[in-house]
Amino acid sequence: MVRSPLVRSPLVRSPVLRCRRALTAQAAVYTETGSPPDVVRVIERELPDTADSLGAGQVLVRMLAAPVNPSDLNQIEGTYPVRGRFASMTLRDGSEISGAVGGNEGVGEIVAVATRGVSGMQPGDWVIPRRAGEFGTWCTHTVASASGLHVVPRAWREGVRATDVACLKVNPSTAYRMLRDFAELRAGDYVIQNGANSGVGRAVIQLARHWGFRTINVVRDRPQLAALQQELRGLGADIVVTDRQLGDEGVKQQLRSLGAPIRLGFNCVGGRATLQMTKHISAGGTLVSYGGMSRQPVTMPTSLLLFRDICARGFWMNRWYAGCEGDPAREAAAAAMWQDILRLVREGAFSTQPLAEARWSATAPLADTQGLVARAAAWGPGAKHVFTFD
Ligand SMILES: NC(=O)c1ccc[n+]([C@@H]2O[C@H](COP(=O)([O-])OP(=O)(O)OC[C@H]3O[C@@H](n4cnc5c(N)ncnc54)[C@H](OP(=O)(O)O)[C@@H]3O)[C@@H](O)[C@H]2O)c1
Repeated sequence: MVRSPLVRSPLVRSPVLRCRRALTAQAAVYTETGSPPDVVRVIERELPDTADSLGAGQVLVRMLAAPVNPSDLNQIEGTYPVRGRFASMTLRDGSEISGAVGGNEGVGEIVAVATRGVSGMQPGDWVIPRRAGEFGTWCTHTVASASGLHVVPRAWREGVRATDVACLKVNPSTAYRMLRDFAELRAGDYVIQNGANSGVGRAVIQLARHWGFRTINVVRDRPQLAALQQELRGLGADIVVTDRQLGDEGVKQQLRSLGAPIRLGFNCVGGRATLQMTKHISAGGTLVSYGGMSRQPVTMPTSLLLFRDICARGFWMNRWYAGCEGDPAREAAAAAMWQDILRLVREGAFSTQPLAEARWSATAPLADTQGLVARAAAWGPGAKHVFTFD
């Protein structure tokens, strides 16, 4: 059966006899934490769709694109510090559930603006969530507080895709801040990183190249290693090795004779692979951990702390964004960073990581969309997914 994308409910009369309308939105919702493919289900619910039916300060947003990030999956599993926003929802059949919509990052287009309490936003504007947990982005439409959104200036949209904007706030921004905020890198300096083929890793490679820094990139071994090495070199990687090769005498010798310091190490893995990598950071350098994909702890030999003065730090983009609240200088720095990244995308100097597009069609049978969401929200090898909405 083919449904209309926006099924309008019959007119509902409010106590003051004003006509209110609604549209049927679809959303990937979980009512309890657990393995994402098991606990996330696609529901239909009705949302107000006119200016006078929205509450003060609210806007109706039609989502354009929303990625599936590892942290989104951690959030659904209940292991991420930012919890999903659980709320009561009325489903299309009239039943009530308490659930949270999955996803924290994405871009949407404003469809309607409340008659009161919203300024500086209008239909047609593209918006991104101001903070993680603001609202779930894996949905066709949502009603959001205008105060929880950033408007993407129209000039920034030119020459970029919605998926580039949808993936802007987390991975490229993390790479940008880590390269800028932990050392005074000079042209020619090296950065070593693991998980170099991840979204953040690819962003590090491209931004480093743009700013004149060099990168040593560690990936896991795989059957198509040569193809991956070539792909990362194409992005600007200087050296690409596997975590096993890091222990080879030839590679150790190569990294000892670079002629420039390895001032920073970026870690999103943990465990032995990180220990091996940290040994290559130059004296006085810094290891910045920003992820823990292996779920193993980060350990550091005492000798690296004492005799090499290696410093271990952590970085969390959400904490950096939280510092924007009430700090106009940092808020301006965030805007400048996003503008910079989108300019590089427009100029062909930066590409968003390869993403498998999961096309979410509101006219498809709900069971098909359920399958699409379950596949996109599963851990495992292969490309990361991004939902795009018809
Ligand atoms: N701190 C922050 O603010 C921040 C911001 C963005 C991302 N992150 C974190 O950074 C990490 C990468 O995120 P992303 O979105 O860039 O990831 P992604 O594009 O989905 O890539 C995942 C990466 O993790 C590697 N990986 C997966 N399982 C692994 C394991 N068991 N051992 C070693 N490596 C493994 C993958 O390597 P293979 O190709 O070999 O599988 C790949 O390089 C995640 O932990 C994420 O939560 C943190």
